[in-house]
Amino acid sequence: MRHPPTRYGAVAQAFHWIIAALVVSQFVLARLADPLPLGLHKLTLLARHKSFGMTVLMLAVLRLLWRLGHAPPGLPAGMRPVEAWLARATHAAFYVLLFAMPLSGWLMSSAKNYSVSWFDWFTWPDLIAPNERAFELLRGTHDALSKVLFAIAVLHILAALKHHFWNRDGVLLRMLPFTSEKTP
Ligand code: HEM
Ligand code: HEM
Repeated sequence: MRHPPTRYGAVAQAFHWIIAALVVSQFVLARLADPLPLGLHKLTLLARHKSFGMTVLMLAVLRLLWRLGHAPPGLPAGMRPVEAWLARATHAAFYVLLFAMPLSGWLMSSAKNYSVSWFDWFTWPDLIAPNERAFELLRGTHDALSKVLFAIAVLHILAALKHHFWNRDGVLLRMLPFTSEKTP
């Protein structure tokens, strides 16, 4: 019989940290682009934001497929039921948002008739016909979802730090490469 894993594997860790870095970059790029007047600089930053965002979408598909075949380690035994529920709910919400954020961005760009290229290699097809009302709605959705994602990320990072420094239960270490978690 195979033992359940006690750590995230190298592939799961790579997915986690590459996607986390891309998500953080997305907020930085959007923040830099936001105050700029419409022009080359703004469009270049937004083009990068779109390419990174579509990369997140592709990686989220691969990550989910990988996860179906590779169960994550179980939560530490000492966790209270409410904490375990929160951890599962946060992770599930992340997966939903890793699809919803890029899809709402892609739909928004389609509705405005702005093409979505991937690092100038190729152009993604438009998902819907140009429509100003749909654009405004999708822009509001993208903005609102980004706030939810931000809040969840703050909660997630605080929880990871609490596990590491307060509970000392190895939860952070099992997501980090080149470590071995010590369970007290
Ligand atoms: C994980 C993926 C993504 C994240 C976390 C993200 C996050 C954000 C954030 C925080 C903003 C600023 C919102 C505001 O202040 O109104 C923004 C704006 C924007 N995003 Fe994304 N985004 C993602 C993917 C995408 C994708 C894939 C596209 C297009 C293909 C896209 C297109 C845009 C555009 C065009 C804006 C500017 C909207 C405006 O003019 O107000 N985003 N995004
Ligand atoms: C904002 C970007 C981030 C996203 C989207 C994200 C997403 C996720 C997701 C979806 C999982 C569940 C993995 C699975 O079971 O399939 C996870 C686990 C984890 N994340 Fe993040 N994460 C982010 C940033 C971070 C940061 C900055 C830290 C460290 C401070 C961190 C620490 C962890 C740890 C320790 C786990 C494992 C939890 C466990 O063992 O149950 N994450 N993350």
